[in-house]
Amino acid sequence: MDHFLYRDGALHAEDVPLSEIAASVGTPFYVYSTATLERHFKLLDDALEGTEHLVCYAMKAASNQAILKTLAALGAGMDVVSGGEYARAKAAGVPGERIVFSGIGKTREEVHQALTGGIRQFNVESEPEMQVISEIATALNVIAPITIRVNPDVDAKTHAKIATGKSENKFGIPISRAREVYDLAASLPGLKVIGIDVHIGSQLIDLAPFEAAYNKVAELTEQLRTDGHEISRLDLGGGLGIPYARSNEAPPSPTDYGALIKKCVGHLGCEIEIEPGRLIAGNAGLLVSQVIYVKSGEDREFLIIDGAMNDLIRPAMYDAHHDIVPVVESEVGVLPIPYDIVGPVCESGDTFAKGRHMPPLKAGDLVAFRSAGAYGAVMASEYNTRPLIPEVLVKGDQFAVIRPRPTFDEMINRDTIPEWL
Ligand code: LLP
Repeated sequence: MDHFLYRDGALHAEDVPLSEIAASVGTPFYVYSTATLERHFKLLDDALEGTEHLVCYAMKAASNQAILKTLAALGAGMDVVSGGEYARAKAAGVPGERIVFSGIGKTREEVHQALTGGIRQFNVESEPEMQVISEIATALNVIAPITIRVNPDVDAKTHAKIATGKSENKFGIPISRAREVYDLAASLPGLKVIGIDVHIGSQLIDLAPFEAAYNKVAELTEQLRTDGHEISRLDLGGGLGIPYARSNEAPPSPTDYGALIKKCVGHLGCEIEIEPGRLIAGNAGLLVSQVIYVKSGEDREFLIIDGAMNDLIRPAMYDAHHDIVPVVESEVGVLPIPYDIVGPVCESGDTFAKGRHMPPLKAGDLVAFRSAGAYGAVMASEYNTRPLIPEVLVKGDQFAVIRPRPTFDEMINRDTIPEWL
């Protein structure tokens, strides 16, 4: 459930009509609902009630400072994957002891930054990375808490570009070699091994792959304990999917997911972490765009809108489906017609949907892409020198621009001219 509903025929974000935001900030823009962000965080937090746990929001999904602050105020931890994200988490007031550092290519600078700024744990993905963290921690005279990310060789049954848990994927240490790698970690100075990490992919719409992976983690926990390692924390990653096509998708609920976690690993007495991104932010955000032209092709109608692939790359990159709805609700009895919904960028890949049934629309009408809160604004670019679009946060009847649209001059003036020109 989200807080984007029609009232008197006008789509609202909580209590604010989207047309009002459009009139104030221009189109296209992203808009997020505070109540939805909070609701999704709480659903997951509640699903793990009864076990010691921390929900570490995977901020790669949507990392605006206002979103981070909203979640941090509820006690969220953060899962970061770069020095930039680490800095964002700290800037939003998240203490180091609630920040988990994931990713396969942490640089020396990033390790140094996190060790000096404070870190809950590094999720280590290779032996050379482990050596580097050990070296830097020793030089700083601190102890780095680590888990080791294992690759359980489980098929997440999601889009190939976002599956991470098969042995051919670049992520983690093969679970078959885990015991020797834990022995190596225990022998290195400056490290404290505290647990196991696993993340098998994103947009999982079935619990079975989670179950397979978590059972393997449970088995490994017992083996490692027999080997003398203290395993007190399990980071179970993110990945729970959301319904992108509301008419025919029903991914598992957070409650079922929480119950599965308890069933698979609850008996081990470990503290549990999860790293959800999409489930928290995905349906908490819309992309709102305006129709520029309706163009008749030979055998189809094109709806040319002012949002483009640079603003929302998911359809072009993953063939992702987003429900697209008119901001003014269609009247009962109006027959929908099929449109190819496209942006202005000069590539045929700049297509959001083909043959999508919509009520008849005309230039100036507004449309909203649902489920655009995660991996939307964060993956945007300035391709075609199109400004990054504004982000707006709504809370009740208030809204605020949380990232303004840059002017053309601001964009151009970031370039610098060499002295010979
Ligand atoms: N933890 C780790 C280590 C991850 O790599 C990811 C996502 C997450 C947590 C959060 O996963 P989530 O709960 O959001 O599924 N750009 C793609 C998704 C990439 C996901 C990358 N890793 C998309 O638009 O679908």
